[in-house]
This record gives sequence, structure tokens and C-alpha cells, in this order.
Amino acid sequence: MEATTTRLAELVRPFKGQTGATIPVLQAIQTNLGYLPPESFDVIEEELGIPATKAYGVATFYAQFRTTPVGKHLIKVCDGTACHVKGSETITTAIRDHLGLAEGADTTEDMVFTLEEVACLGCCSLAPVLMIGDVTYGNLNVEKTREVLDEYRRKEG
Ligand code: FES
Repeated sequence: MEATTTRLAELVRPFKGQTGATIPVLQAIQTNLGYLPPESFDVIEEELGIPATKAYGVATFYAQFRTTPVGKHLIKVCDGTACHVKGSETITTAIRDHLGLAEGADTTEDMVFTLEEVACLGCCSLAPVLMIGDVTYGNLNVEKTREVLDEYRRKEG
């Protein structure tokens, strides 16, 4: 816990004295830690004088911010128009089933995968599409989706 606070302070400090720092500082924390740990908001208040309640309000207002930890691999399933028309819901269901995600959960218990639905990933001609890290997988069907997930599972040993 202490290590997290120290790391958070290091990430937050460069924003000292900047106006309109709330969103950039939250982005910096999330980029580095993958999510906004609960201590983030107190550290932001202590270091920058931005009330914790305000920073938390911003974090929960914008869909881009996460307040729960992410798994090692973040699976972004596109639910933009083109992907939706080509069956992205089926892909999402297949992923949830294959990973055994409990209802309402988006991260596997072993913290290997987190599932996130996003808007257009910018490669609609490949619909339906998902991304894991920087890698894009397109023209998906249920079988191909399972194969992609199994590939990552194998890498985890
Ligand atoms: S709608 Fe899915 S990539 Fe554009």
C-alpha cells in the first residue's frame, strides 16, 4: 500500500501548479498503473490541492477511467456500428463464456484477462474486431475468438 502511495506521488507531482490538471493527472496514473487505485484521489488532493471528491467524480464520470484493477491482457471488443452489425455481441458472449467471467465481472479471477467493450477501433473493414494490447484480430467468429484466447492462455503457461 505504501509503495503504491509513493509511486502515485511520483506520478502526480509533475502536475503541481498546472491548471486543468484533473484529467491529465488521472490519465497519467491510469497509463502507468492500468487503473486508478483508491489511494489516487487522496494523493491528488495532498499533492495538487484538487479535492479527492472532485477527482473521483471526474474518474467515475468518464468511461475511459477505470477504478478497478485490470488483468494482464486487456481485451477490447469493438461494439461500433460495423462490428455490431457483424455480430460483436456474439463475440463478447463467446469471450465471457470461454473465460468463465462471472456475471457483472470484467476481469478473470486470475487477473490474466480484462474484457472491455469499446467504440470503433478504426478498422471496420475487418469487423467484427477485437484488440489485445496492440494486436488487432479481425473477421472474428466464435471459433477464431476462442483460438485467440487460447493462444494467450498458452503463453501464460
Ligand atoms: S465499428 Fe468496429 S472497428 Fe469500426
